[in-house]
Amino acid sequence: MKRLISAVLLWAMIFCCTACGRNAGQQASSNHDAASDESTAPSSDQGEKSKEDDIKPSETTVSAEVGKFDFEKKTVLLNSGYEMPSMGLGTYSLSDEECYDSVTALLKSGGRLIDTAYMYGNEAAVGRAVRDSGLPREEIFVITKIYPGEQFANPEKAIQDALDKLDIGYIDMMLLHHPGENDVKAYLAMEKFVENGKIHSLGLSNFYVEELKEFLPQVNITPALVQNEIHPYYQENDVIPYIQNLGIVVQGWYPFGGRGHTSELLGDSVISSIAKAHGVTSAQVILRWNLQKGVVVIPGSSNPDHIKENLDLFGFALTDEEMNRIRALNRNEKHDWY
Ligand SMILES: NC(=O)c1ccc[n+]([C@@H]2O[C@H](COP(=O)([O-])OP(=O)(O)OC[C@H]3O[C@@H](n4cnc5c(N)ncnc54)[C@H](OP(=O)(O)O)[C@@H]3O)[C@@H](O)[C@H]2O)c1
Repeated sequence: MKRLISAVLLWAMIFCCTACGRNAGQQASSNHDAASDESTAPSSDQGEKSKEDDIKPSETTVSAEVGKFDFEKKTVLLNSGYEMPSMGLGTYSLSDEECYDSVTALLKSGGRLIDTAYMYGNEAAVGRAVRDSGLPREEIFVITKIYPGEQFANPEKAIQDALDKLDIGYIDMMLLHHPGENDVKAYLAMEKFVENGKIHSLGLSNFYVEELKEFLPQVNITPALVQNEIHPYYQENDVIPYIQNLGIVVQGWYPFGGRGHTSELLGDSVISSIAKAHGVTSAQVILRWNLQKGVVVIPGSSNPDHIKENLDLFGFALTDEEMNRIRALNRNEKHDWY
């Protein structure tokens, strides 16, 4: 009998421990979920972010919300916890005054995302237009980039130069413009500026699958964005899902094929016929096609009417059949070397 009572007691203890363990495990897991939800909550104050948010790519917990486009708010949620507008303005090749006027036109038309770079030589003009707009700083999202060579070799100086030229308090997102010597060193320096709140989110440009496989295990903060060439003649249909599955948002450059190619692309008979069916322009069809693929767009323009038109993308939607017709235009035809 004694033996029977001991056996029952032992069984009860084991059951209790296992059940407690399971509860503890469940608690831990729901705490973890809560933590990851918090890490993706939009925040305008980097100072409040915990270092735990900065997880290594191999440990990335991709929240279901990251990378989702909100077509009402016209934004996408980044893995850094910040929201980024899903369309904006590219400033490549815009001279100082052109750039100032174009950014001003964008902001007046309701656009809030601007892409610049050290190499474009117009960061100061972007910053001046942002300051002169009178808009609250936190409403505007500015991306800039540092370049291989001297800048990657001395990244702290390059980053500080960008902050000084822009003169808008902090940089919403900084990208490495290209892979290259010292790219990991440059990225790790950008991570330090994230820690002190001077940069909110990090990203890469002109990184494809092989480059990402090599690069990501060497850094601490998973990039929030990859910016690559994407247009109907160069669609990157393998690369885009690869990047998105890492919880990284994709942004396309040369949406109209880049200067010298725009008339061919905008005049393409398939795109023109889809545009006609919706009563919109070819430019709007291409930009909308990107958004429906989950790709953020930054068309370049110095024409205020085009800038306004390029933001007007939410009054129509492409059907699956139209998306497929555009997909069939892919020629794998890159329009620049990088
Ligand atoms: N990361 C990188 O390596 C990289 C490389 C290249 C570019 N980028 C970024 O991507 C941005 C976009 O590329 P991009 O500006 O070179 O080329 P793009 O956007 O493909 O094309 C710009 C051209 O399209 C015209 N355009 C714009 N909107 C139009 C509209 N609604 N109707 C008709 N034409 C229109 C512009 O002329 P108007 O001025 O007359 O409107 C301009 O000539 C750049 O500005 C830059 O920010 C990044």
